[in-house]
Amino acid sequence: MAPRRFRGAAALVVGCLLVCCLDCGFVSPTNATRRSLAAGFASGLAGVLGLESAQAYDLPDLPYAYDALEPSIDKATMEFHHDKHHLTYVTNINKAMEGKTQPPLVELQKSAIKDGAAFRNSGGGAYNHNFFWLEMAPTGKGGKPSEKLAKAIDDSFGSMDDFKAKFEAAGAPGARFGSGWVWLVVDGDKKLAITSTPNQDNPLMDGVEGTAGIPILGCDVWEHAYYLKYQYRRPDYIKAWWDVVNWDQVSAWYEDALGGKAPAA
Ligand SMILES: [Fe+2]
Repeated sequence: MAPRRFRGAAALVVGCLLVCCLDCGFVSPTNATRRSLAAGFASGLAGVLGLESAQAYDLPDLPYAYDALEPSIDKATMEFHHDKHHLTYVTNINKAMEGKTQPPLVELQKSAIKDGAAFRNSGGGAYNHNFFWLEMAPTGKGGKPSEKLAKAIDDSFGSMDDFKAKFEAAGAPGARFGSGWVWLVVDGDKKLAITSTPNQDNPLMDGVEGTAGIPILGCDVWEHAYYLKYQYRRPDYIKAWWDVVNWDQVSAWYEDALGGKAPAA
């Protein structure tokens, strides 16, 4: 969020300079100029004061290059997925919340189903994809599960291999028909569970299908996540996806989830 704060400060400085010019007669203000100045001041002041909740959500940059997840996920898929699909979710939740306070995205999730389609589909989609980019890392760079997480996976599912098999089964087209996500969550009893959700729902949403909880790992099984490379072979995509999971991030989110904190993606 630091860049927003910086932009706010910069807007405030520019606004001050322009007003000085106006006062000194160097600039002849039009109504548009006045409106622009007012908006700049409001934005700048909010940024400097840390009132960032009123600002629109941003499409975050990927934390790696578009081709960094190859061969598991190809460059073209990453470009379309991030630059087009994710951008659309961000644009649409911003439209739905125009003029309203915009809290951190994670705070929209709990009531998203009750709040309506824009919050459920676009707010959910914006959050889920922020989460998705962060939980992946270039092949060989994602580390491994922490000892604590590895033990919890063994205790809950038998072994890492058993966990992966169950996760893959939950994401297979026969189990999650159509578009959706497969998740590893920390449930209300602090236990690990595998669940899946339709469309852009996620386990943070009240009333969600399946097991509610705090997600620490999620696989996007929409066709847009894999179709260019894998076509109808969704199971092959999920198998290859394990190679780009950022276990360091997932382990950190596991610790947070045990403390009741959801990823602030
Ligand atoms: Fe997606």
